[in-house]
Formats: sequence, structure tokens, C-alpha cells
Amino acid sequence: MKWALFTFMFGTLISCGREKKETNFTVLQDNSSIPLTLYSLQNTSNLKMTVTNFGGRIVSLWVPDKDGKLDDIVLGYDSLEEYLLDNSYFGSLIGRYANRVAKGKFLLEGKEFQLPVNNGVNTLHGGPKGFHNVFWEAKTVSTETGSRLELNYLSKDGEAGFPGNLSVKVVYTLTDLNELVIDYEAITDQITIVNLTDHSYFNLNGEGRGDILNHQLMLNANLYCPIDDTSIPTGEFRPVIGTPFDFLKPHSIDEFIDQLDPQLKIGKGYDHNWVLNKDSNELSLAARVSESASGRVMELWTTDIGVQFYSGNFLDGSNKGKVGKPYNFRSAICLETQHFPDTPNKEHFPPVVLRPGEIYKKSTVYKFSIIK
Ligand code: GLA
Repeated sequence: MKWALFTFMFGTLISCGREKKETNFTVLQDNSSIPLTLYSLQNTSNLKMTVTNFGGRIVSLWVPDKDGKLDDIVLGYDSLEEYLLDNSYFGSLIGRYANRVAKGKFLLEGKEFQLPVNNGVNTLHGGPKGFHNVFWEAKTVSTETGSRLELNYLSKDGEAGFPGNLSVKVVYTLTDLNELVIDYEAITDQITIVNLTDHSYFNLNGEGRGDILNHQLMLNANLYCPIDDTSIPTGEFRPVIGTPFDFLKPHSIDEFIDQLDPQLKIGKGYDHNWVLNKDSNELSLAARVSESASGRVMELWTTDIGVQFYSGNFLDGSNKGKVGKPYNFRSAICLETQHFPDTPNKEHFPPVVLRPGEIYKKSTVYKFSIIK
């Protein structure tokens, strides 16, 4: 990695809520000299989060339980050095293309592009220099509806193998309705492909507190995308009815996760894209997760068309998270809203092409509440 690491320099901690506290995050600079900082946001109902502009990563998210006790419900690390070594995408923004592109190849207007491969034979999450691994310009804003962090990044023509200068803006807002809203926008100066998401790992009982197998999950999807043995969609949209992929009615994640099913075998559990039930690009309910001990409920709303539900099957305890806690097998759930994996190579999937003059826009909302 090319970044210069200046340990023990002070971090400019910008607080958008009321809190201002010390951090052991060090300050890094990349070639663009953007300083690295930990930002904190807070709403009036006690939701709090910290975000670093390295990868736009959500470092912590404190949410009240049924007794009003706050717990940090996302996996992450205590220091920037650990994020530099991370290969799990904890809390990251993901781009230019979320999820997989088969063999890292795609054709755009007759021209072939080759992305660096980083996941077996495929490219995952924009490759090694995806948006999770770059420095974002950041500024905080307090508004009437909550506190907000704006992140901007210019992905240059050819960077990570993608064509076109892509200018990306992502805004995190904590609203007073206990929502975390993530708004995305991007424009390009050449035809390109775009599929952005966020990659937070949630454990509604608190990060580092056991697995997520007893979490109840509802996914608002009649169809999902089966995958080949390199996790690339086969192109089929398969009905979930009568399969372990049916989450139309909420049930616990472990109900079918260990069934002998060829698709579950490939993913070592759930690591698939569901086709959301919707007929417009309006914000709609994609998923609901709840956990009975804490009483926490998280709803996921999105304007996007798919969601990758990943049940933390590649976590194996070797990542030592915050306060040195091992993050074990299936100790978190990811719900990554997105267009379907490998769309650039699937003519019948809704397109991910962005042209000059068009604006890529998307929103995702996590709404927190308590089981009634
Ligand atoms: C995504 C992928 C998974 C895995 C995780 C990160 O969810 O679909 O296969 O790579 O990211 O470990």
C-alpha cells in the first residue's frame, strides 16, 4: 500500500452531534493529501455513529435496545491500521461495481474491459482498489432533520479498470425518526457501469455478542438469483417458494441455513441476491430483521432492485474486531442493496450503464425500532 502513515498525529475530530471525544485513529494521507478523520453523527433520540473517510466506512453505530440501553451493532475495528488490512469490507462503501463481475470482464459498446480479479477468478466489490479502499473528501452538516456527513470521491478514468471519470457523492444522515439514510449520486464523462452499496455487518444484539442465527429475517422477494460454483448468477430468477430462500414470512436465519441444498453449499450459507418485489424505483421495504433479547428491529428500505443477503459465512474468528473481540462464523448479517451481480454480462438483467448527462441516484434507509 502506498499510503504514508503518520502515527500519533492528532485526528481532527469533527463532531456533528454534541459529543467530542478522543480517538486512537491515526491520520493517514494518500497521494491526494486528503486527511483521514473519524466523524461522528448523532440524532436527538440517541442514535450515534462514527464514520471514517477511508472507504466511507461506518465504524460504529449505537442503537437503543428495549430498555433504552445503547449498544454498538456493527462490526468494525478500533484503528485505521486494522482497516487497511481488512478483507471483509466492514462498514464500507462499495463501488464502482458492488458484488461480482465474472472473470472481471465486460463489454461496453463493443469494447472489452478487464478489471483486476480479487475473488477467485472474479472481481468482487470493485477490485482491490474499490471505493472501500480510497480516501473520500468529507464534510459534516447539521440540518433540521438530523446530522449529515457528505462524502465525495472522483474515480478517475481507468482507475480500477473502469472507463470514465466518475464523480460520486454519498450522504449519510441520521434522522430524528431513528433512521440511517444513505443517499448516493454519481455522474460520468464517458459511458461506464455503476452499482453502489454499503457493506455494514449487523448484529442486533451488539457486535461481538454471539452469532445472528436467532435473528428473525423477512425478505420482500419472491425470486432470488441462483449462483454457479464461483458465486456468479446463472442468469435464472428462481422462485423462493418451497426452498430455504423463502423469507417472505419472517423466520429465524438458522431455520434452513444448514439444509443440504446445493445453493447453500456454494455460499457456505446465505450469500445470494434476492430480487425485490417492486414495480418502480420508489423507496420500498426490502427486509426486516429483529432480535428478541435486545428487542431491536431494523428495517431496510431502498430504491434499488436487489439485496445481497450474506450471513457472515467467511468470518472465522481471525478478524479481531473492536476491543479485540473475535468475529466468529455467522456473527453478523449483511444486507447489501444493489443491482444484480454480473449484470454487465447478463443482457436480461436491468442495466447498470451510466452515460454522460445521466445521474445515477439511489437511496437506502435503515430504520430502527423496538419489537412491539
Ligand atoms: C459479499 C460477498 C461475499 C463476501 C463478502 C465479504 O457479501 O457476496 O461473498 O465476499 O462480501 O467477505
